[in-house]
Amino acid sequence: MSRIVVVSNRVALPQRSGGAAGGLAVAVNAALKDRGGIWFGWSGRIAPDPSDAPQVTKHAGITYAVVDLTNEDYQEYYNGFANRVLWPVLHYRVDLSEFYRSDLSGYIRVNRQFADHLEKIIRPDDILWIHDYHMMPLAKYLRERGHRNRIGFFLHIPMPPADLIQALPQHGDTVGALASYDLVGFQTEGDRENFARYLETRGGQTTPDGTGCDIGGRRVKLGTFPVGIETRPFARRARHAARTNFIKSFHDSLSGRKLIIGVDRLDYSKGIPNRLDAYEHFLRTAPEWHDRVTYVQITPKSRIDVPEYQEMDRYVSHKAGQINGAYSDVSWTPLRYVNRTYSRSALAGFYRRANVALVTPLRDGMNLVAKEFVAAQDPADPGVLLLSQFAGAASEMRTGALIVNPHDTEGLAANLRRALEMPLAERRDRHARMMRVLEARDIDRWAEEFLAALAPEEETRREVALPRAAVRSVVRLPVGWGSGLVPRGV
Ligand code: F6P
Repeated sequence: MSRIVVVSNRVALPQRSGGAAGGLAVAVNAALKDRGGIWFGWSGRIAPDPSDAPQVTKHAGITYAVVDLTNEDYQEYYNGFANRVLWPVLHYRVDLSEFYRSDLSGYIRVNRQFADHLEKIIRPDDILWIHDYHMMPLAKYLRERGHRNRIGFFLHIPMPPADLIQALPQHGDTVGALASYDLVGFQTEGDRENFARYLETRGGQTTPDGTGCDIGGRRVKLGTFPVGIETRPFARRARHAARTNFIKSFHDSLSGRKLIIGVDRLDYSKGIPNRLDAYEHFLRTAPEWHDRVTYVQITPKSRIDVPEYQEMDRYVSHKAGQINGAYSDVSWTPLRYVNRTYSRSALAGFYRRANVALVTPLRDGMNLVAKEFVAAQDPADPGVLLLSQFAGAASEMRTGALIVNPHDTEGLAANLRRALEMPLAERRDRHARMMRVLEARDIDRWAEEFLAALAPEEETRREVALPRAAVRSVVRLPVGWGSGLVPRGV
């Protein structure tokens, strides 16, 4: 059987497990846990010199191979191009993007370095699964080096319409380079359609069913694979967590008040200011709820070297202070704003105790907090999920969530009140409907479906099997073609 080689910027190294991990790390970890394989990426460390070779560790059937970044790489590739250009543009915030050619060069340089390292690791029949916006051109560089492995890419964040992608300088070298993969997977149908339309602007021809695009002389498969969670294990984790002293003392601290919870990295895409405005409106217009509700917003700081995140940090702290200043009493604090990171077990316990979750991003690829909150509930007395229409999770969770527009402050406040006052029968019914989706589409199904779609299917490949010498020789295609580089003679 082919080995699976996963590549992502962040790698959930075993020595760091137990703490908080982002959605990608959680999903990849769950996907590799039973299958085994290699997980390659950044060590999370900054070193004076680039790594000569990956540092390898093995744990529970997974081989972790990680490399350090130099400070220059970290600034240009990670802080610069990935997080100040790709992140805002792909989250529909072109206004927040800060493009510098030096950052794009750094992004390309690091992706080429990753390709050099991978070259030493991979075998011809390995299946490569590349994750997220940090690694868009990686397949192109591996193809240039003559590798003909099946290579799939999964985008964890949104794919905006073609007009927005075109605002990205030299988008052909990044988003356009996705045409070098065999399969490109997205969280939602909308993301997949946006990418297909974008490829068409570059001369691609989408198949009538939208599941493929012919571009640059080859076919790229396009698919939708909404990331799931470990539904049953997470539900179990929440049940156990609720019995711990930590969660019991948290529960006691609420003194019988209803709990509203929000858990988000401090990021402008999460819509935290809009949510705080809505909570302020709720407090202003629903005085009967004073002293009967506590909103806990858990917001670990992230990407703190990026100016837009520093600005967000200042704004949210100020706003949280303003709300508490205006509405607190000596024995009641309406908002607990916490920048700490909690373990997944602690979060599971908080979710289980919560009556309402506010998951109201302005734009989000999926949002696994929404799914984990639902899985953590007690089915006999479940909480209510308020979910933004702009989260990828809305396409699956609309069966039971209260779907909200985060830009509509009064509407959000009205839905918060509705959630707090929702009768038990309706809460149970909504919860059961969402659980059916979560059980049917858990994390195992996500990985199985993606890997099945990526498995070799010679009949759907347009490429002719070429001897390796011929594959190594490449020709440059005119601007406007997908990868820009294809094997000569194809
Ligand atoms: O959504 C993309 C993602 O990679 C998530 O998996 C994760 O929560 C977040 O971004 C992590 O960002 P960073 O690696 O920059 O801390």
